Amino acid sequence: MVNFTMAQDGSVIKLPAPQINSGKLLMQALKERQSIRSYSTKPLPLQTLSDLLWAADGINRPESGKRTAPTAMNQQELDIYVVLVDGVYLYEPKEHALRTIAKGDFRPLCGKQDFVATAPVNLILVADYVKMGKLDDEKKKHFAAIDAGYISQNVYLFCASAGLAGVARASVDQEALAKAIRLRPEQKFILAHTVGFPVE
Ligand SMILES: Cc1cc2nc3c(=O)[nH]c(=O)nc-3n(C[C@H](O)[C@H](O)[C@H](O)COP(=O)(O)O)c2cc1C
Repeated sequence: MVNFTMAQDGSVIKLPAPQINSGKLLMQALKERQSIRSYSTKPLPLQTLSDLLWAADGINRPESGKRTAPTAMNQQELDIYVVLVDGVYLYEPKEHALRTIAKGDFRPLCGKQDFVATAPVNLILVADYVKMGKLDDEKKKHFAAIDAGYISQNVYLFCASAGLAGVARASVDQEALAKAIRLRPEQKFILAHTVGFPVE
């Protein structure tokens, strides 16, 4: 179960190694991929959270540091903020770990739909425009949106593969959320993705 009660701001929580020999076959996961909006409040086991984040955008080729999701010009501009019942964490792919950003239950700020406040996990996909160099803002917005789509589809397929529920969400009060997860002005909200166990 995910319970990081000892974690302080800035502290890093190492995730267990992802289980890469698990889950349904890709064709079966594609058959079952769907948006689900009813969630159990049951937290995800730490191993499942680890597998989810690695599938979403973990490093799958350590020799090059490249990821499960592609990015335009390999800029790797997207960060995943992980909003759990007890705090906000930043996924650190190199360490396969979570960095504590803020303690407290920020789930109600993750979206306008009721299930968002009670589902165990909300992933917030954030583009860091600083990592996108000299591109103009229109191109940054364009590439960041495409790149977030790949991560979101990885999450959808992982959920289908692992028997979890998930839904991509753009309907978010971006200003309130940015404040809660302490984004810098160059960091832009792109998409949220709720994940949890489906209601039986
Ligand atoms: C960019 C994007 C934004 C979305 N935003 C929301 C949202 O804010 N709330 C929601 O409930 N579903 C949202 N969805 C999910 C879509 O409504 C869903 O994918 C669509 O109805 C098709 O259903 P399916 O995913 O089960 O095939 C979003 C999907 C995408 C790709």
